[in-house]
Amino acid sequence: MNPPIVAPSLLAANHGHFAAGIQAIEAANLSWVHLDIMDGHFVPNISFGPQLVADLRPQTQLYFDVHLMLTHPDRFIGAFAKAGAQRLTVHIEAEHDMKQTLAAIKAQGMSAGIALNPDCNPERVLPYLEDVDLVLCMTVFPGFGGQAFIPSVLKSLEYLKAERQRRQLQFRLEVDGGINVTTGLQCRDAGADTLVAGTAFFKAPDRQQFVRSLTA
Ligand code: DX5
Ligand code: ZN
Repeated sequence: MNPPIVAPSLLAANHGHFAAGIQAIEAANLSWVHLDIMDGHFVPNISFGPQLVADLRPQTQLYFDVHLMLTHPDRFIGAFAKAGAQRLTVHIEAEHDMKQTLAAIKAQGMSAGIALNPDCNPERVLPYLEDVDLVLCMTVFPGFGGQAFIPSVLKSLEYLKAERQRRQLQFRLEVDGGINVTTGLQCRDAGADTLVAGTAFFKAPDRQQFVRSLTA
């Protein structure tokens, strides 16, 4: 059983003051930051790229959990490895050879994750479960923070939790999008152990209390 982790998404921080966003995560005694990379093609928004990750790298010891919402994630593995990413998570819906991409991520010394959108049948990731140590079930359609949680994803979490148990695997089950205390605890009950929270974390009046509510 993986210990629960809250990974705040920097997408929800002030993009003119990323260092302050990093400091807020550190002040909440957290160890992961979730970095949402968007190309304006795979998702209808553009966020930030490898240069930002590289510039943040020397400023913090946080674990860089990088979520590639890119049509061609395989083209950017080297750039994010050089920038200091520790994990790259890539979408099953993107245009690449998943096995090759996952192998290339690990060949660069990073951990590999696979992501699926809310309408994706979780059976599609079954061939890759031995190749990853994290599966990201999107709980919104990716592109923007602050969207409403999609409860039907709880079924995918339960399915993948059962599959993890059946195959005696240890991958983390991550959720991302619309995660607050209520939806986060629903996801934990369904098997999630890694919770990405953007809006709810940065807007929380007491961030440490927010984290405690999700990880108790
Ligand atoms: C995809 C992004 C968002 C963000 C978190 O859209 O991955 O899900 O991280 O969004 P909120 O603000 O809902 O926590
Ligand atoms: Zn994300």
